[in-house]
Amino acid sequence: MDKEGKQRVLSGMRPSGKLHLGHLHGVLENWRRLQDEYNCFFFVADWHALTTNYEHPSDIPANIYDMVLDWLAVGIDPAKVTLFVQSAIKEHAELHLLLSMITPVSWLERNPTYKEQQQQLKERDLATYGFLGYPVLQAADIIMYKANKVPVGVDQLPHIELTREITRRFNYLYGEVFPIPEGLLAEVPKLPGIDGRKMSKSYGNSIFLSDSPDVVRQKVSSYVTDVERPRRSDPGDPENRCVAFNLHRLYMPDERNREIVRDCKAAKLGCVACKKELAEAVVRALEPIWEKRQSLSDEPGRVESILEDGGARAAQVAKSTMSQVRSALWNPNAG
Ligand code: TRP
Repeated sequence: MDKEGKQRVLSGMRPSGKLHLGHLHGVLENWRRLQDEYNCFFFVADWHALTTNYEHPSDIPANIYDMVLDWLAVGIDPAKVTLFVQSAIKEHAELHLLLSMITPVSWLERNPTYKEQQQQLKERDLATYGFLGYPVLQAADIIMYKANKVPVGVDQLPHIELTREITRRFNYLYGEVFPIPEGLLAEVPKLPGIDGRKMSKSYGNSIFLSDSPDVVRQKVSSYVTDVERPRRSDPGDPENRCVAFNLHRLYMPDERNREIVRDCKAAKLGCVACKKELAEAVVRALEPIWEKRQSLSDEPGRVESILEDGGARAAQVAKSTMSQVRSALWNPNAG
């Protein structure tokens, strides 16, 4: 618990550049809710990006800027939360090193994401020491701030489990320095990309937060609808078969959606007109994000100074944690 009686939350994202609606509804809306209730630390995991992208590190700085601009544009508020970049806080490297001493290699080899990612990213050589240690670095990120809760997607749960095991081992060997963190899963609405697959930058099926209104209109109009309704005169089944209807659920009023379902089933409403109306609703929802994004990027150095302020606050916590860690390690009876 912090002074304000709040628990600590920590989460991070690898700097993937511009974010899309999947990130907004899947992650950022959750962060935005948490920032009022918890003492939150949100950071850019740029060293983690290096574990898979070590051949192209020069892309990373621009990606950091674009991603943080999107965080701010959607309302992650630097007055409420601490925002920082991992590589600015060198203590993460020191804690990672110390944790690596006590982490059995077998725990890391068992980690399901280790083998999966190697399979998926076959064109890159991921048989590196750093990539095997990915979850050790993640554990260092989390416990550095003595986080109680770590909001993540299901895919990250094995890493949270490893963090818990490594933390227990540290506490057992050197004394109770760290709370054992817990993963925090949010309910995430389904939001497929334009082609019906999971929205992902690498599939080219995403609507980005930074797309212009006309690009958003064009992308919404390209959404797959009900493939079993090839002709306008065929009755549709939007709730079960229409990919675009997932966007309706998020962006259109329930009342209007009920009429749309009725008219689509009766073959009275065509997909072109239906998506036109939908596109306007998406554009309206994104307008405040675009405005905020614009005003932040009009101010030179704004994002950088937010990250500097956050970095200074993060460094204070990290320095204090590391002095407790060193004293537990080297003077076990002092604490
Ligand atoms: N591995 C996380 C991801 O790919 C990013 C990450 C790094 C993270 N360190 C973290 C998430 C600490 C939560 C807490 O999404």
